[in-house]
Amino acid sequence: MIILAIESSCDETAAAVVRMSEEEREILSNTVATQIATHALYGGVVPEIASRAHIEAISPVVRRAVNDAGIELSQIDAVGVTYSPGLIGCLLVGVNFAKSLALSLGVPLVPVDHIKSHTAAAYFVSPGLKAPFLSLVVSGGHTSLYNVTRPHTFEEIGGTRDDAAGEAFDKVGRVMGLPYPGGRAMDELAAEGYNARLQGSAVPLLHFPSPAIADSSLDFSFSGLKTACVNYIHNLRQKEGIDRDGALPKEQMAEIAAAFTDSVTEGICRKLKSALEETGHKKLVLAGGVAANSHLRKAVEKAAAQCGAEVFIPPVSLCGDNGAMVGAQTYFEYTAGVRADSDLNAYASGEGAAAAQALKMRKIEK
Ligand code: KG4
Ligand code: ZN
Repeated sequence: MIILAIESSCDETAAAVVRMSEEEREILSNTVATQIATHALYGGVVPEIASRAHIEAISPVVRRAVNDAGIELSQIDAVGVTYSPGLIGCLLVGVNFAKSLALSLGVPLVPVDHIKSHTAAAYFVSPGLKAPFLSLVVSGGHTSLYNVTRPHTFEEIGGTRDDAAGEAFDKVGRVMGLPYPGGRAMDELAAEGYNARLQGSAVPLLHFPSPAIADSSLDFSFSGLKTACVNYIHNLRQKEGIDRDGALPKEQMAEIAAAFTDSVTEGICRKLKSALEETGHKKLVLAGGVAANSHLRKAVEKAAAQCGAEVFIPPVSLCGDNGAMVGAQTYFEYTAGVRADSDLNAYASGEGAAAAQALKMRKIEK
């Protein structure tokens, strides 16, 4: 079937056309209009500005996705849309557009969860990927471990108790003066740090706390790591007589990024190994924006191999928010019978979406 999918949960307006069946998983087009340059001025996403930018971009982005796919609108079998979680004003733009489009084409409208979609990007890596499997979604808003029993059934078995991994990357990057969002720049800087270590760097090696909670849970906490890193940077500036926002010596920054990355990869891999052991899964998906991190990808591949598990990580181009991942998840929701009516709403949190669904079911039963 041919699916048109829309994503607008945060700062990317995205649409894609995908062809999906049990054997076939093909991306026909994948268009993303990013707002990064706008939000970079403020050092973070400004929700009001983001919603307005989505309103401007959504029509041209969807039109371009259809044109790039080389299809007619009449060939679309279903419209999928991210309805939760995310910034409410942003989600509403995508949901409303998708509703109108599905109505005008006379095709089913399928509501899709953003986190499940991140995981679904992995279906494009290998047609061999089939549930059940373990999934870790590491993004700007989430760090959650899921027992995926069926493609549309996700049971959360672990997650962050405070900040998400991406938030920590971005905050540390910002304090070091790296371009927004800091994740990608931290990745490159850490590579320099690791190289310098190999060449016997003169900078003392650093060690920050692990984000893995020191108990038998599968939970994380990134706020301690983030704060330790930020405090270290502030102290270093004071010691070196550098202004509050002044540039630190490059070698020091590279070592900070490497040590921060060490903690992230060690903590994540420790809990991943426990989760693989506890669930007995032999397949693992790593997804979300932070899954683009080159060091994390390597470390997770190694950890999975040590547990005898096969690992599926989407290509970097499908790790950040995009429409293709929504299209893949739309297929599985659609085949499970999930449909939305014209009263579909958007929900900032997964819990909000679940509560609204439960309320609707109670009304129908009455
Ligand atoms: O999944 P995503 O695009 O949006 C959310 O759903 O949150 O994730 C965005 C996050 C940002 O925090 C960004 O800095 C981070 O992914 N990110 C990275 C890398 N590329 C993007 N973090 C670490 N290393 C990267 N290479
Ligand atoms: Zn995302």
